Amino acid sequence: MTIHSQPDNALAFPDFGDPGFGVYVHWPFCAAKCPYCDFNSHVRLKGIDEERFVAGFAREIACMRELSGPREVTSIFLGGGTPSLMKPQTVEAVLSAIAGAWHVPDGIEVTLEANPSSVEAERFQGYRSAGVNRVSLGVQALNDKDLRFLGRLHDVAGAMKAIDLARETFPRMSFDLIYARPDQTVDAWTAELEEAIGYAADHLSLYQLTIEEGTPFYGLHKAGKLKVPDNDQAALLYEATQETTAARGLPAYEVSNHARPGAESRHNLTYWRYGDYAGIGPGAHGRLTRAGHKFATVTETHPETWLERVEARGDGITESVELDTEEQADELLLMGLRLREGLDVRRWQSVAGRTLDPAREDFLLRQGFIERLGNDRLRCTSSGMIVLDAVVADLAL
Ligand SMILES: C[S@@+](CC[C@H](N)C(=O)[O-])C[C@H]1O[C@@H](n2cnc3c(N)ncnc32)[C@H](O)[C@@H]1O
Ligand code: SF4
Repeated sequence: MTIHSQPDNALAFPDFGDPGFGVYVHWPFCAAKCPYCDFNSHVRLKGIDEERFVAGFAREIACMRELSGPREVTSIFLGGGTPSLMKPQTVEAVLSAIAGAWHVPDGIEVTLEANPSSVEAERFQGYRSAGVNRVSLGVQALNDKDLRFLGRLHDVAGAMKAIDLARETFPRMSFDLIYARPDQTVDAWTAELEEAIGYAADHLSLYQLTIEEGTPFYGLHKAGKLKVPDNDQAALLYEATQETTAARGLPAYEVSNHARPGAESRHNLTYWRYGDYAGIGPGAHGRLTRAGHKFATVTETHPETWLERVEARGDGITESVELDTEEQADELLLMGLRLREGLDVRRWQSVAGRTLDPAREDFLLRQGFIERLGNDRLRCTSSGMIVLDAVVADLAL
């Protein structure tokens, strides 16, 4: 499959147009499990039969194509887990299967998530030749103490090497950092972020550390052995993040995602603009519209059970549920308010079949949590973003 690099500023922002059609492929394996992570990721010390998984992915892709009908793909995302543990041939085979199922125009964004500890020059070259044109690196912190605390397998020197290699190999590159770590001050985080922006290309994902139920961090937190910043401190850290990134030309275009205008992730925008996407692989979620009906698909999470299921019946889907208009309206609201460009109010009204409650909207406007951009768009203010869940819950009722 030949995928040419995306021209600079191919996605001019703001671009409120077609939300697009994305293809997400989940690689559910990691070299080690990070103590904060509740994503569908598994460690397999005995190795992984990649060829068998490729055949499974190809079968499920064909099945999703049946469900979606013919579509033009606007982005592909290989996420995980740790997709940079895949052999380049595996990535190539998955991309070929996608190109065989749907129309994949030249130049669309093709992202692969990579961990600095699993980065080798040869592999990166192999991914590039396979058609990957954007890499998202899990850097997470720029000091070794915090990297150890987060249970990461790389150190800062390894992260720097991976960033350099990514910048040399791929036309586009982003990296992730986790903040709101225990005892993190605004000054320390701002200094770390300034340093990160110096290494960044044109996109950064900055996530607040979340204590997820079922993880080792959850147990430690419950036992009082791990203290994360309280809500006030987290809000200060969030505000510092917005100010620092905006001042350096990488403003937030979504709650946790920052880019130079034009360098936003096309794939992520499809999720937040509530477009359709096919979710392939263990534990992947999808949204597919057929004849005006929108379906939510979920696949089996356990990798080997997913594979057996695909081999036996062609797909690993455990749930395919039609979303009613209220559910679609709630999802559209939840996603749209994450974006700096905001929610397309007319679209929301046409999905919901009603208008937003004027009294609730007025209350949130007066509180300074939301603002109108002309008649057609509604967005969260910076203070509204901090209490986004409450704003969404209020408007959704
Ligand atoms: C699930 S990972 C997949 C990519 C890759 N394995 C990595 O670790 O970067 C995607 C992003 O989610 C972040 N993440 C996972 N759990 C998190 C949590 N509890 N709080 C904040 N960020 C989290 C990861 O650190 C990473 O930046
Ligand atoms: S490497 Fe990424 S996906 Fe794997 S456990 Fe760590 S955060 Fe989760």
